[in-house]
Amino acid sequence: MFSTYAEIFEKRAGEYHHAMKASPNARDNEFLAVLEPIRDAPSGIVCDMPSGGGYLADYLWAGMTYVAIDPATDFIVELPKPLRRIEAEIANVPLPDGSVDFVVSLAGLHHETSLPRVFGEMRRLLRSGGRAVLADVAADTPPARFLNGFVAENCPLGHDGRFLDDQTAAALEAAGFSVADDRLIDVPWVFDDVEEVGEFGRHLFGMTTLNPAETVQAMEREIGFDFKGGRPQLRWILRRIVADAR
Ligand SMILES: C[S@@+](CC[C@H](N)C(=O)[O-])C[C@H]1O[C@@H](n2cnc3c(N)ncnc32)[C@H](O)[C@@H]1O
Repeated sequence: MFSTYAEIFEKRAGEYHHAMKASPNARDNEFLAVLEPIRDAPSGIVCDMPSGGGYLADYLWAGMTYVAIDPATDFIVELPKPLRRIEAEIANVPLPDGSVDFVVSLAGLHHETSLPRVFGEMRRLLRSGGRAVLADVAADTPPARFLNGFVAENCPLGHDGRFLDDQTAAALEAAGFSVADDRLIDVPWVFDDVEEVGEFGRHLFGMTTLNPAETVQAMEREIGFDFKGGRPQLRWILRRIVADAR
């Protein structure tokens, strides 16, 4: 029996990482979208929490220093050596107050039981005037229903996400942020063919008892694809909130 999501993810990290390595560009749109609100900054320290396998680092530019925070040790061992990585809960990060310029958080907040604690920690880490960009699945959208429905039923470890909603911005304000932007964004996952979709989906979501075709059918039924240049694009949507440290 697993008590925390960190323990669950410890078990799932290997499969997640396998999917990300096998299809390293499928989620390009997500990583680019979460960095877009800090794109004009020439330099700074970027704290990625939770980082998974440190994938965001590949999308940063010269001048940016990357720090990965994740509680799952499997991810920590997998990270390439030059990256700074810290094994820690995202509500309790062993870095000094005001020591980072940017916080980026992609697809990990829906596992958190206390967003106010995490937002307080993000605010503590950021210097005044620093910026946090959060992007995660939004409540009442097809990805949210897919994760807490089909994935919950077919991943042996389950899925119990608490997704971003209209209250999230208020919690950020209460933690000492000024919310500069809060919107749904289209970040389609792009694949070469449907075989790749099936393999990616069953590993990323930990549904390896399903075959690739069953996985693709569920994604098509519950989220949907567009085909551009013959390539399947999953209609993934996130809520992105940009918040500046007061
Ligand atoms: C879906 S992955 C996202 C990783 C990466 N940001 C990405 O976009 O690929 C979710 C991450 O949440 C981490 N995690 C585990 N327990 C957590 C917790 N209690 N709070 C926040 N994140 C947690 C996992 O280790 C995992 O790296």
